[in-house]
Amino acid sequence: MPEVDQEGKDYGINIPVKTEGFFLKGASALDWGMKNRFSRIFNPKTGRTVMLAIDHGYFQGPTTGLERIDLNIVPIAHYADTLMLTRGILRTTIPPTYQGGIVLRASGGPSILKELSNEQIAVDIEDAIRLNVSALAVQVFIGGEYETQSVHNLTRLVDMGNRYGIPILAVTAVGKDMARDARYFRLACRICAELGAHYVKTYYVPDGFATVAASCPVPLVMAGGKKIPELEALKMTYNAIQEGAAGVDMGRNIFQSESPAAMIQAVRAVVHENLSPQEAYELFLQLKHQKT
Ligand code: R5P
Repeated sequence: MPEVDQEGKDYGINIPVKTEGFFLKGASALDWGMKNRFSRIFNPKTGRTVMLAIDHGYFQGPTTGLERIDLNIVPIAHYADTLMLTRGILRTTIPPTYQGGIVLRASGGPSILKELSNEQIAVDIEDAIRLNVSALAVQVFIGGEYETQSVHNLTRLVDMGNRYGIPILAVTAVGKDMARDARYFRLACRICAELGAHYVKTYYVPDGFATVAASCPVPLVMAGGKKIPELEALKMTYNAIQEGAAGVDMGRNIFQSESPAAMIQAVRAVVHENLSPQEAYELFLQLKHQKT
């Protein structure tokens, strides 16, 4: 039988309990589990994240740079705060000892041979819980042919995520006839946030990105887009961060770089240490040469 407790003496009567806020925009009212999962994606010290996006195979098969994720990605995965990927790659290829966050691709259906906006929810919430994921990602095609269906995928996932404490990342996908400008992304990002997305991924636009970030009440992460020269990608990252992005969810500009390990470290330096694009590029060159 345990000893009877002698009642405590130190109640800290005159010390008010700290009421901590939360470091992410729009997340103060979320529950503990949701905030804890967010803290595995975003670094609480900087409030930012480097997500490494490697989910491209879910609609386009073995993308250049992702032919062998065990060889090309696993060795650099520890430089990312979070991996964004499918459950197939997670189970088959990512060591369960991986310490970073996992953002699981939760929508899919059509391949590049068909209409891409015709997606459905592609993961059961129970499987997401079983995989201990930090968030679920769903593509939203504002202006696309199956706009309403993709929005409905988002809202259903938000209901499931709220039930179990799993943040939902809405990924804005550009519809065929929509221009990729600030006006479009303000519309798309705001719709996603209004409908409950806990954070939103969008593309950088040189003219007006700050208005996209300002009008979205939840954190924005910037998608990398197609491969561009390393210095250009670092400039884009720097500008997005300075204009209000809370990080990047970057794929091809890292894994299709001539040195993915050097590039992800350079991107990290911009995101978490505010290095200028030129400083980060010099770091990239230095790390690239160390490797070879
Ligand atoms: C594409 O549909 C995927 O969601 C990618 O994760 C996303 O496009 C980011 O990758 P990238 O930086 O290559 O554009």
